[in-house]
Amino acid sequence: METTKFVLTENEMPRQWYNLNADFPKPMLPPLGPDGKPLAPEQLAPVFPMNLIEQEVSTDRWIDIPEEVLRMYAIYRPSPLHRARALEQALGTPARIYYKNESVNPAGSHKPNTAIPQAYFNKVFGIKKITTETGAGQWGCALALACSLLKMECKVYMVRISFEQKPFRRLMMETWGAKCIPSPSPETNSGRKFLSDFPDAPGSLGMAISEAVEEAVSDSTGKTRYSLGSVLNHVMLHQTIIGLEAKKQLALAGEKKVDRIIGCVGGGSNFAGISFPFALDLINGADMEIIPVEPSSCPTMTRSPFSYDFGDTAEMTPLLPMHSLGHMFMPPPIHAGGLRYHGVSPMISHGINLGLFKPRSYDQLDCYEAAVQFARTEGIIPAPETSHAIAGAIDEARKAKEEGKERVILFNFSGHGLMDLRGYDLYFRGELVNYPLPEEEFKKSIAVLNKLPKPAKY
Ligand SMILES: Cc1ncc(COP(=O)(O)O)c(C=O)c1O
Repeated sequence: METTKFVLTENEMPRQWYNLNADFPKPMLPPLGPDGKPLAPEQLAPVFPMNLIEQEVSTDRWIDIPEEVLRMYAIYRPSPLHRARALEQALGTPARIYYKNESVNPAGSHKPNTAIPQAYFNKVFGIKKITTETGAGQWGCALALACSLLKMECKVYMVRISFEQKPFRRLMMETWGAKCIPSPSPETNSGRKFLSDFPDAPGSLGMAISEAVEEAVSDSTGKTRYSLGSVLNHVMLHQTIIGLEAKKQLALAGEKKVDRIIGCVGGGSNFAGISFPFALDLINGADMEIIPVEPSSCPTMTRSPFSYDFGDTAEMTPLLPMHSLGHMFMPPPIHAGGLRYHGVSPMISHGINLGLFKPRSYDQLDCYEAAVQFARTEGIIPAPETSHAIAGAIDEARKAKEEGKERVILFNFSGHGLMDLRGYDLYFRGELVNYPLPEEEFKKSIAVLNKLPKPAKY
């Protein structure tokens, strides 16, 4: 029988994460503090534990994964690499399509890959409680799972529209012992202000971040910290276990090179995870394209300027150098809740500016069409976020067919959609529409960036 899954044993799991910051041809710009000057690592100490801040600013190429983290990873890692033979056949493409299946774990997405080490490093630092935000609920679930494994307290501010659309994710978080409340909430100063300014606000990741950061920094015991599920350098770092495993698995499949690497992008972590270990090959001259994919309704990478911007709506975070729609951006309620963030990881923004990553956007309906084709060939029902990577992979497989090229395409299957079936229901009933961000709204949203420091030209 032909092999369709390439698997590694627990002992073959990578023992170190890969840090692309060691290999960028040009260093990244620093984040800025409230005074507009480069941020000193200690300024982040009220928000994150120092051991994670060290990873955030590190330029070491390899960072050891602690034994205890490896043991927790082993609950679900290594994840399988699949060859999408049925999809290839349906498309009649000469391309060989592989996907790394990050949906096979208790939380259902790639997010535990960083939730587990983040909770672990917080615990080692003496922290008892972690606060966070969540969009679609995948990140909140992952952190709730990690905190339950490590017996820590967890509080999750969930974007109101998702809280209402996805009650099962809240129940998953509660089953793992976390407290989950809708944001904006009356529990914080920033939440109360949002509620009085915008009483019917559907919420946004930016708002929920403000609430979670506020709760962490205002705990007088000093035993609470905040945790972010994407965007920051240490999160990208933890996710590289995906691409490091995939490299070994592609070798098992007999592939000597990859031509296309594709991932969907919200804050950027699953894309970073699959692609960063291969970006080093690209920097060293390999012939490949690395393609981050986003929704056309939230076009952070494909339309937004590169700017300094806050990571949250209430302007509590440092200023990050990133492509951004502006921190007041109110995302339209598309179903890929995890892709509705106004900014994108500074590392990915830097890679785009250096020409390493070639971003692209797709409309919601094209993504659902791709997701359904995938479900009806490969069997697994994708998360709406993941469908963007699938749309990209299908496009590349069709191009390979037109050009008669036997390309190797690798994409990250970031999560399953079993908790997101409402979006499928609306799609089948013809009630979903495309919403490419109108130019007027885009211009209004990025106007806020004019007041912020300008990054140096590339
Ligand atoms: C399944 C899935 N994929 C992708 C994303 C996007 O996040 P990131 O860009 O950090 O991978 C999310 C975010 O919630 C998600 O749940």
